[in-house]
Amino acid sequence: MSSFSPVEMVRRILDEPVVRPAQLQWRRRQFLSRDGHGSYFGVFDSFKSARAWLPSSPEVDHAALAAEYVDVRTKKVFSYDYPVMWWLDRALRDGASTVLDIGGSVGVHYYAYGRYFHMPDALTWRVVEVPTMVLIGKNLAAQAGAAALSFSENLHESVATASDDVWISAGAIHYFEDGRPDQLLKKCVRRPQHILLNKLPLYNGEDFVTVQNIGEGAFAPLHVYNRARFIQDIKALGYTLWDKWAVQERSMDLRGYPERSFPSFTGLYFVDSARMFKRSKPLLS
Ligand SMILES: C[S@@+](CC[C@H](N)C(=O)[O-])C[C@H]1O[C@@H](n2cnc3c(N)ncnc32)[C@H](O)[C@@H]1O
Repeated sequence: MSSFSPVEMVRRILDEPVVRPAQLQWRRRQFLSRDGHGSYFGVFDSFKSARAWLPSSPEVDHAALAAEYVDVRTKKVFSYDYPVMWWLDRALRDGASTVLDIGGSVGVHYYAYGRYFHMPDALTWRVVEVPTMVLIGKNLAAQAGAAALSFSENLHESVATASDDVWISAGAIHYFEDGRPDQLLKKCVRRPQHILLNKLPLYNGEDFVTVQNIGEGAFAPLHVYNRARFIQDIKALGYTLWDKWAVQERSMDLRGYPERSFPSFTGLYFVDSARMFKRSKPLLS
């Protein structure tokens, strides 16, 4: 008897090479419709070819996408935020006082995490974002009196001039065309002591680019990275992988490509090996 559930059996039949083209055509229509919100489609070799396939859209630079961040995510944390909060709190207690938050929306993590632990008075927290989020984020910070928060639209300039103690990027760095962390670290004048990367699409196969229906009529290309290489490239720059966790709330369900689908995203915490926490050992070797 087969060990697959009926749903999995149907899925496997649809992924068969003979049926796959019809499935992909139907999926394509669904992906591009309102019902496709949140879903992924296709395999591309670059952002350029993904964009050539996608209908024209503002991608992530779209005011309608800000509402959920302003209304919900500035106030609420999710289970996958707890490892980040745990390590960030510890880093701040250990003396870290400058944070670079890559793709931090309107400053959601600054506001939401600040409800759970004390942020030092001298803290500076710089968010790199698209122009629309920068504008909304600056207005929100002015209203909230959040003097620690600042915003930048230029990732490479921010990184080149950065001397931040902590880098955070949650569910974001893979949407940047050239945001691979090891490449950014190589451009940095003073590298961060702590790197917290959350909600990353990492898996065991080859790197590829896919596209996502991000809602409100917008679509975005994103990278999916090979896990071992992604981690090794950061370690090779002198970092220790201190912790990692599965983000069960995110998965890559890429119809027609079972070998590129995976059930959870990943969170990673790296510490500069030369400046590790004094009285503890890495959780991972
Ligand atoms: C899925 S959201 C995650 C937001 C937040 N970090 C969180 O975890 O809730 C991805 C964020 O990355 C930003 N982003 C994606 N590509 C970007 C780019 N090329 N330049 C600046 N920001 C970008 C988007 O505007 C968006 O706010």
